[in-house]
Amino acid sequence: MHVILVGLSGSGKSTLGEALSKRINRPFYDLDKEIVKNVGKSIDEIFADQGERAFRSIETKVLDTICSKSEPAVIVTGGGAVIDPKNRSLMKRSGTVIRIKRSPEAILSTLNLEGRPLLKADPNRIYTLAREREDFYHLAADYTVQNETASDETLEALTHLVLTKDKAKKILLLNGPNLNLLGTREPSIYGNMTYEQICKSLLESAAKKAINLEIKQSNHEGELIDWIQEAVGEQDGILINPGAYTHTSIAILDAIRSVKLPVVEIHLSNIHARETFRAHSVTAAGAVGVIAGFGTMSYHLALEAMSNILTEQ
Ligand code: DQA
Repeated sequence: MHVILVGLSGSGKSTLGEALSKRINRPFYDLDKEIVKNVGKSIDEIFADQGERAFRSIETKVLDTICSKSEPAVIVTGGGAVIDPKNRSLMKRSGTVIRIKRSPEAILSTLNLEGRPLLKADPNRIYTLAREREDFYHLAADYTVQNETASDETLEALTHLVLTKDKAKKILLLNGPNLNLLGTREPSIYGNMTYEQICKSLLESAAKKAINLEIKQSNHEGELIDWIQEAVGEQDGILINPGAYTHTSIAILDAIRSVKLPVVEIHLSNIHARETFRAHSVTAAGAVGVIAGFGTMSYHLALEAMSNILTEQ
């Protein structure tokens, strides 16, 4: 999920956004700058040549392109981007929206008018804009950060907010008995990738999807059950490869059913094409679905499936 900053022109969004992106190590996009790159004209020129209406429709298109980027980013929007309900719902769907708030008086005392066509002719118009847009900022934002005078404290407050309130989905991946031995355990069936290598590549794909992935492995049925129970309120979904417990554990099935979180069951091997005792999964009855037979790719497909389930919720 992205972090999207909204607020009046001159409220310090760009400076804060750029500093935040460095702090949390995410790419930075300034919507107005992206529009300029896209159209090949300055914001002032677009307003003069095509008018505000045309500008707003370009703004929506460019915002959509930036929000569709899979790598979570910090996005700073122009002052009026919140007016269009399409933009507001796009922002809400794409991340955590934070309003950067500064009073019109403070804005006027520091404002650089270049690239701010609505204020260039009459800077006092900031008072009207502030009044007109108040409700829209309110509707758009999940949180507000006061930025009366730019300061290190504001950046600290913003960083803290983003790190604690990030809407990133949390997924727990549980692996059952003997899966810690992947890489050396029956490689003709389970492949050569070690357990650590699989975890690393999953964590990398999760990070690209802005998913908070936690991975645990245990050889003990009770411990897996404890972790399933503890996931309530902590996690948004569970991926599980119960190993051999797949075929025997009514207790794991009961745990899965009792937590009411979406569960996707994973198997590296195609359990239907092996010994008959593996063809039946006891635990799968509690899962939304099962992915089996694609080797380590089964894990990635399951992550993808869960990510889709959670976005559609
Ligand atoms: C497994 C299949 C199970 O039958 C077996 O006991 C495992 C691994 C798989 O990932 O293919 O331990 O779950």
